[in-house]
Amino acid sequence: MGMENDILKILLSEEEIKAKVQEIGAAISRDYEGKNLLLVGALKGCVVFMADLMREITVHAKIDFMAVSSYGSGVKSTGVVRILKDLDRDIAGYDVLIIEDILDSGKTLFYLKKLLAERKPASIKIATLLDKPERREADIVPDYVGFVVPNEFVVGYGLDYDEKYRNLPYIGVLKPAVYEK
Ligand code: IMP
Ligand code: MG
Repeated sequence: MGMENDILKILLSEEEIKAKVQEIGAAISRDYEGKNLLLVGALKGCVVFMADLMREITVHAKIDFMAVSSYGSGVKSTGVVRILKDLDRDIAGYDVLIIEDILDSGKTLFYLKKLLAERKPASIKIATLLDKPERREADIVPDYVGFVVPNEFVVGYGLDYDEKYRNLPYIGVLKPAVYEK
């Protein structure tokens, strides 16, 4: 069976996501005029959002990636973060914009932002496609947010469950039976 069969409902359609990504891209293009923009994608969830967002940005932008993994399994983040892949460049003097798929407890981004801030960028901000403020445990506020979503586990458009569903073009909620397998 295909992936579609595991989806209970579509939360955000391709059209809704596209319109929102255009809006965020326009805001970033205004705010970063004349700056030294470096987009830092947090792998792997960022890939679809970042690929679409960067094409909506009309000012000069460089890109780089970080891969961090929180210890602990599955759905819950522990806040202890391990660097799996670091940036290729020194970010001193850059206006860093971290690109995330979802801000949940906020522990991962809290750590990542702190780590990057120590490297003396000119500025550091966060753009997240989804925000689940109900779940926040760390003191972190995103600068650009696509959608505030309810406390439900969502997949698609880069977001995974057990590394699957990242390639769904929309964002949906999984059928409970999928977790119970
Ligand atoms: P945090 O440290 O709790 O904010 O964890 C953020 C990370 O948890 C995200 O980058 C996702 O990889 C994962 N995550 C949190 N909520 C969801 C969800 O609803 N669907 C898929 N992944 C999620
Ligand atoms: Mg994940």
